[in-house]
Amino acid sequence: MSFYLTTPIYYVNSTPHIGHAYTTIAADILVRHRRQRGEETFFLTGTDEHGSNIPRVAAEAGLDLQEFVDRNAAAFQEMTVRVNASNDFFVRTTDDRHKAVVQEFLQRIYDRGDIFEGVYAGLYCTRCEAFYTEDELVDGLCPLHGIRPEHVEEKNYFFRLSAYQEPLLRLYDERPDIVLPRFRYNEARSFIELGLDDISVSRASQRWGVPVPWDESQVVYVWVDALVNYWSALAFARPGEDLRPRFWPVVHHLLGKDILKFHCVIWPALLLGAGLEVPKQLFVHGYLLMDERKMSKSVGNVIDPLDLIDVYGVDPVRFYLFRVATFGQDGSISLEGLHERYERELGNELGNLLSRTTAMIARYRQGELRPEPVSEELTAELARAQDEVAVRLDEFDVTGALELVWELVRRLNRRVEQAAPWELAKDEARAGELDQVLHELADGLRAVAVALAAFVPSTSERILAALGQPADLAWAGVAAGRTVAATGIVPAEPLFPRVDAPTAAA
Ligand code: MSP
Repeated sequence: MSFYLTTPIYYVNSTPHIGHAYTTIAADILVRHRRQRGEETFFLTGTDEHGSNIPRVAAEAGLDLQEFVDRNAAAFQEMTVRVNASNDFFVRTTDDRHKAVVQEFLQRIYDRGDIFEGVYAGLYCTRCEAFYTEDELVDGLCPLHGIRPEHVEEKNYFFRLSAYQEPLLRLYDERPDIVLPRFRYNEARSFIELGLDDISVSRASQRWGVPVPWDESQVVYVWVDALVNYWSALAFARPGEDLRPRFWPVVHHLLGKDILKFHCVIWPALLLGAGLEVPKQLFVHGYLLMDERKMSKSVGNVIDPLDLIDVYGVDPVRFYLFRVATFGQDGSISLEGLHERYERELGNELGNLLSRTTAMIARYRQGELRPEPVSEELTAELARAQDEVAVRLDEFDVTGALELVWELVRRLNRRVEQAAPWELAKDEARAGELDQVLHELADGLRAVAVALAAFVPSTSERILAALGQPADLAWAGVAAGRTVAATGIVPAEPLFPRVDAPTAAA
């Protein structure tokens, strides 16, 4: 099996906030999990650099255009590294190799007959990079950004999107899981049912962008340029190798709900127009909210992911985002919420479980862990988790999958309380029972570490190391009885050391 997953490519008009980190982390969790199952994967992220407001923003910053986008693209690359994303490539739309594929792509549609010349007059929001009709505006302002759209009138090239209503409806009928969650499928389908207008795919008044191949006085519309990244990057990510035959049929896109129409309607139509295969699946997620509002630079309520990572470490941030909000729905985040889950769930539930288990093995068994039979109950629970976590992740239900693993953590904590190993240790006659409990805790914790590896990769590594277990993350390890004999186990350092609570000013 092969699996190709993309994040949207991020605009470089400013630096990343946690809403961007969110999609990248979700993608990373999904891809790491597939790798654990032995699938061949490709994980792409990157930056969208030809925004029509880039020349203005760069000028305001007093920087040359290329220097400006290089600087912000570097900030997104740093974010990708700091959230511990295991992407295979980082694509930039200012890369000449990408630009060449964009030209080729547009030329294909042109040659097949679905691009024509026309005049566009309309209201354009430079933040959405999209046209609006008068009725769509709210008090004359963009409904998403609250800014006044610009009146644009120019000769453009148009893509005959209207001709794709029928083919798209057929596609949606044939593939009811093409868009997830289901309510987003319905939303996309109703856009198509309402009827589709042709869209302008070039700009006459701009220079910053990819020249239209048959008319270099125009540049390609930034959304077309950006969408093509998913296809172009495979052509040059591995010099000398074209990955498209291997990964294009299995392409999956993650995206936020604000860009549903571009991805679920326009993108498949453009691909059909170019005679290419449409994506296998698209998953649309919700927003992270702060104080009930979408976190965004324009509202000014953003959190810098790097600040949180500096204080808590990367794994707690990865963990929190998918505990607090159901992936697919909107969810409110807060510094207090992160702190609280850090202490209660990561510190008290997972961290203490490892501390206690290793401390008891060190104290009662001189650091020696010996394989013992595992109870039927734990065996059955791990077998169930192994199947069900995989099923949820196949449906992009990152939150549901994490909840299932967390139930195992809680179960192991209950086992410690019920078995009270410290009581067993007082009675020589119960030594066999104690061996069994200690082994069962270690085995359960080892399986949990494997199950958690996609979510909190460094924590999993530390748990396995503390238990003297090999760093084998194969999904088959989420099963009972895979613990190997180990010696020299010492009380583990706290996985999640104390952190000061956030102050009101933070
Ligand atoms: N450049 C376009 C995408 C082109 S893809 C071919 C773009 N960029 S963006 O930087 O504005 O947004 C990128 C992604 O970040 C989108 O999926 C968007 O939904 C997501 N998010 C931005 N703010 C967010 C939150 N507050 N919460 C969750 N996701 C958010 O759109």
